[in-house]
Amino acid sequence: MDIEKRINNLLSAMTLEEKIGQLNQISSAKNEEKLKELIKNGKVGSLIMANTCFAGSEEGRVENIEYFKELQRTAVEGSRLGIPIIFGRDVIHGHHTVYPLPLAMASSFNDELVKTAYRDIASEAALDHIHWTFTPMLDLSRDPRWGRCVESPGEDPYLGSRMAAAMVKGIQGDKLSDESSIAACAKHFIGYGLSEGGRDYHHTDVSEPSLHNYYLPAFGAAVKAGVQTVMNSFNEIGGQPVASSRYLLTDVLRGELGFDGFVISDWCAIQQLINHGVAADDKQAAELALNAGLDMDMVDECYIKHIADLIKEGRISEETLDNAVRNILRVKLRLGLFEHPFAPKYKIDKKEHSAHARELAGESMVLLKNANRALPLKENERVALAGPMATIKETHLGTWTLDGDENDVTSIAEAMKAVGGNRVKCHHAWLADKQMILPWDCDTYVLCLGESRLMSGENNCLADISVPEDQVALAKRAKREGKKVVAVMCFARPVAMQELEPYCDAILYAWHSGTEAGNAVADILYGRVNPSGKIAMTFPRVTGQVPVYYNYLRAARPCNEYYGQGRSYRDIPARPMYPFGYGLSYTDFEIGEVCSDKDTLSLSRLKNGEGFKISVKVKNAGDTDGKETVQLYIKDEVSSVVRPLRELKGYKKIFVKAGETVNVEFGIGFEELSFYNAKLEKTVEPGEFTVYVGNDCTTDNAIKTVCIVS
Ligand code: BGC
Repeated sequence: MDIEKRINNLLSAMTLEEKIGQLNQISSAKNEEKLKELIKNGKVGSLIMANTCFAGSEEGRVENIEYFKELQRTAVEGSRLGIPIIFGRDVIHGHHTVYPLPLAMASSFNDELVKTAYRDIASEAALDHIHWTFTPMLDLSRDPRWGRCVESPGEDPYLGSRMAAAMVKGIQGDKLSDESSIAACAKHFIGYGLSEGGRDYHHTDVSEPSLHNYYLPAFGAAVKAGVQTVMNSFNEIGGQPVASSRYLLTDVLRGELGFDGFVISDWCAIQQLINHGVAADDKQAAELALNAGLDMDMVDECYIKHIADLIKEGRISEETLDNAVRNILRVKLRLGLFEHPFAPKYKIDKKEHSAHARELAGESMVLLKNANRALPLKENERVALAGPMATIKETHLGTWTLDGDENDVTSIAEAMKAVGGNRVKCHHAWLADKQMILPWDCDTYVLCLGESRLMSGENNCLADISVPEDQVALAKRAKREGKKVVAVMCFARPVAMQELEPYCDAILYAWHSGTEAGNAVADILYGRVNPSGKIAMTFPRVTGQVPVYYNYLRAARPCNEYYGQGRSYRDIPARPMYPFGYGLSYTDFEIGEVCSDKDTLSLSRLKNGEGFKISVKVKNAGDTDGKETVQLYIKDEVSSVVRPLRELKGYKKIFVKAGETVNVEFGIGFEELSFYNAKLEKTVEPGEFTVYVGNDCTTDNAIKTVCIVS
């Protein structure tokens, strides 16, 4: 039977209490007896498998699947209508097999690998009775002080949109009702990444055109890819907390973006309307949130306690309640939960998942410096490993890894020794005090630097993002020995490297890359994998340069220091340390002249779906095969409102054999040339556009102007 008909049938059989129950998400921390009682009475629509709101920074594996099965049995066999519970969990960048942090994954610019990773992740999670994950996090992040930037796809709306689609498709699979498909959740809607000063949960504000041009696109892409749920963000915009904004949760999300799943609140976000000062108590908070279009209440129980009264008092209509129930039942039905409410049983190929994790980790890591071709190492090179991350395992799991096991991680030292054998030595005492001696007769120091996983993620923000002093001192000390110094940077967020950089011959940014982190580092250092990652977020020189991002709006005076045109600060050079889209390879890619199949096109033909075909020749001019991410940026020369200096509008990651040349093509159409104007109309204004194609955002290589005529 058609899903909407099934929803109608169910709705007509439900009591008011049962309807409200569907809107209620309970935490697994709740007492078992109490929980079963609530379930039997139809008062639990969902269960979050987490005990606190800081699950991302705490231990807590899914251990007792039988317990969750029993709870589900209570729902489907013991409650009047037998509506299954939807079990949700934060499976953010891995379940048992852990993949790189989302910010690192985005730096792979490899949509297919990211999609594959999330397919693996979902298929592992489904086995543990998980129907729904609170991922992908799509908050545009321009401030590396904000700990949650590491959960995001970085600073760019276009890259964020491509990643959103890949992640949602991976999580939800080809068919939602397949046993290994689980529901995705695009979060946090919307503008959370704007938290002032990079301090979590802080004030945010944004203009409507900016919201539409930069913050909404990734959510639009997730909706287009079929995302089933959306989570509100904690912040306010224009004085209105998102949890109580009908404009954002209904008009924009459903009206403009076309979302038809359900909206879940973030942890206690309804109750926190009281903290915002827009609700006097839980009851008013529930009224505001449900009327705004927030369908399910995560753990604060404002809905279950107050909606019945609010309906009786006429403050919420029954139609509003029914709509929320419909949205939730629709997702449960699409997932096939009524047909298979319990965890499926199938075998996963762990080895294959590890291979995918290793490949993705290898493509996410970014070679930031390689003076005099310090890398790759030769297999007979005598290497001394030092630094806090050489032997550590747990850190590589990164924040928001609830079910990963550090025993599954290969450390950098283990992986390096597996290749270099006894030519690799490991120095455990790493502290840069007077005891610090780098004792071996070696050719190269590989310094494994980094930050603990608790330094990033939710509510883990930093006022100073520079590399810790003792780690810089270690590099200085190593450099003084006159040896080659290679830094492997196991940090989650972009850090400020102005102090460190001069002491390193090579820098590999390894992020927190999951269970295969060590292997991926060894693969790259020994040249078994040619690095191909490109940073998804700008790296500032010093903390004071933050926020710094590549798609600045054009300013009156040349103060857009990103491209080196202005000054901005007297005490540091104009450009950031490393620009968005930057990353080196062991080979050299030459990107040739930008060609367009035409110079002009009329607006009406553009609107009818025609566009420009842009092509470049990409030559691998070195002697190593490799992958390059060819990036296309567009600048709208003159427009009715201020537009960015340039914007990423296309990328292709290609493999080119040494010495070969390939042709790369991009299409530019209405989508790529349009923007939201002051009236919030998505429009293309006739005029000239400059098209850049290069290997990072600063390229002025190959410029071509195309023109739209009215
Ligand atoms: C976080 C969400 C997370 C939720 C459930 C909240 O504190 O902001 O991202 O999904 O907790 O754990």
